[in-house]
Amino acid sequence: MTQTWHTLVSEAEFPAEGKLAAKIGGWHVLVAKTEDGTFAVNDRCTHQAALLSGGRVRRGAVMCPLHGARFEMDGGKCIGGAYKDLRSFPVRIEDGVIEVCVPDAAPGMDELPVTL
Ligand code: FES
Repeated sequence: MTQTWHTLVSEAEFPAEGKLAAKIGGWHVLVAKTEDGTFAVNDRCTHQAALLSGGRVRRGAVMCPLHGARFEMDGGKCIGGAYKDLRSFPVRIEDGVIEVCVPDAAPGMDELPVTL
């Protein structure tokens, strides 16, 4: 599966709250800065497909706003709840600009969040 790097935002423009939701190549992506670095995951809870970007990021993990599952931002591992891990996306910072690498193929229905 091919994938492509996409420019997201400069570090200076990154929201002070430490997280950013974006749609990149059809993928809903949650990018967050943690104590360990900047990470990106699919912005879709693996329980019932809620947007994770509405939840808080704390101690390196995002908490789903719907039922409280927690997922590590670094790699997407589910650490609170018995759900599948999140898909994660590579992140790099080039000359102060945050870039995220997503698959060129559009996400499937099981990878899209429920948005109201
Ligand atoms: S939808 Fe996220 S924990 Fe239920």
